[in-house]
Amino acid sequence: MSYPSTVQAIVISRTGGPEVIEKREIPFSKVAPDHLVVKVQYLGVNFIDTYYREGLYPPPKFPFVNGQEASGVIVALPTDESVLNDPDYKKRGYKEGCRVAVDHLGSYAEYVSAPWNTAYVIPESVSTLTAVSGLEQGLTAISFMEEAYDVQKGDIILIHTVAGGLGLLMAQLAKSRGATVIGTTSTPEKAALAKANGADHVILYKSENTVARVLELTNGEGVHAIFDGVGKDTFESDLVMIRRKGTLVSVGNASGAVPPFPPIRLMQKNVKLLRPSMSTYICTPAEAFYYGNALFSLLANGTLKPQVFKEYPFTAEGVKQAQVDLTSGKTTGKLVVKVSD
Ligand SMILES: NC(=O)c1ccc[n+]([C@@H]2O[C@H](COP(=O)([O-])OP(=O)(O)OC[C@H]3O[C@@H](n4cnc5c(N)ncnc54)[C@H](OP(=O)(O)O)[C@@H]3O)[C@@H](O)[C@H]2O)c1
Repeated sequence: MSYPSTVQAIVISRTGGPEVIEKREIPFSKVAPDHLVVKVQYLGVNFIDTYYREGLYPPPKFPFVNGQEASGVIVALPTDESVLNDPDYKKRGYKEGCRVAVDHLGSYAEYVSAPWNTAYVIPESVSTLTAVSGLEQGLTAISFMEEAYDVQKGDIILIHTVAGGLGLLMAQLAKSRGATVIGTTSTPEKAALAKANGADHVILYKSENTVARVLELTNGEGVHAIFDGVGKDTFESDLVMIRRKGTLVSVGNASGAVPPFPPIRLMQKNVKLLRPSMSTYICTPAEAFYYGNALFSLLANGTLKPQVFKEYPFTAEGVKQAQVDLTSGKTTGKLVVKVSD
């Protein structure tokens, strides 16, 4: 199998609004010896793509190919002999023609060259669409619910953005671990979806008092852990809703970044505060092997069921629309772009 010397890609040449997104033919950069090359069938759209596009996370160079995840078929394997003989590499079972999901920056393109350690072989029983829909957010849900706060049976967990791509997977996972799940969202339709995916209680934050409801549901004690993807708008109230010795996990910035915070405030309840990123939990071959197996087992046995909101076309307009929809707050579940059959 082979790959072309130029590819169609969705790029930006400067940071800004959705209008900076364009589709272009670009050279397919020289493939590093430890990389494999994937012909992309689907790519996933994530909130982080909008952080790069706006410049909250500075793009490393221009033109910048955005995107964190893709799924498709391997068309070239690494060429570095030391990689091919590495026992960790051999464990993965990569072959030309085999389906993989890739967690690598630069996936808005027809072909992706990625370090072998960032690719996960997709089991027979999991579709290429499900694999891309569950990759980034599934790895985040699992690593955060093990390492940021190890969710246990009997815990009461609060998940903001509960009806979103990450939120629904977190609700499914926390429920499967025996926790009571409280979620927040904006509309009754989103609340119904969250309940169908594991949330025991859903608070409509636009019409209800979230703090009062959480304290009522927890007999005034607060929750054991909060996973907060909203950021700026919810951080202060999180400090009220967390219980003594609880864990507050700042997951993302859907409403903007949390302003600087003095750690001395944590001593009022001895709260643990984390601001993790999935890509820093999952770096080494051992970590990728462990979390990849965990994710694809949970996708294969139906514990994690990504809900696809919409498939967008692989055009500048399609990607713009996906990012606009995601930041509008109107979507649920996962947004994907179909790149090829
Ligand atoms: N740290 C990591 O490694 C990591 C990895 C993956 C995702 N994340 C973060 O997790 C969060 C969720 O990501 P996602 O991709 O699954 O997105 P999402 O939840 O599908 O979409 C964002 C949701 O946030 C809610 N929201 C609340 N305030 C908002 C505002 N001011 N503007 C826009 N939306 C607002 C909306 O839902 P409601 O209608 O329910 O309010 C909206 O649908 C994001 O902050 C993302 O950055 C972090």
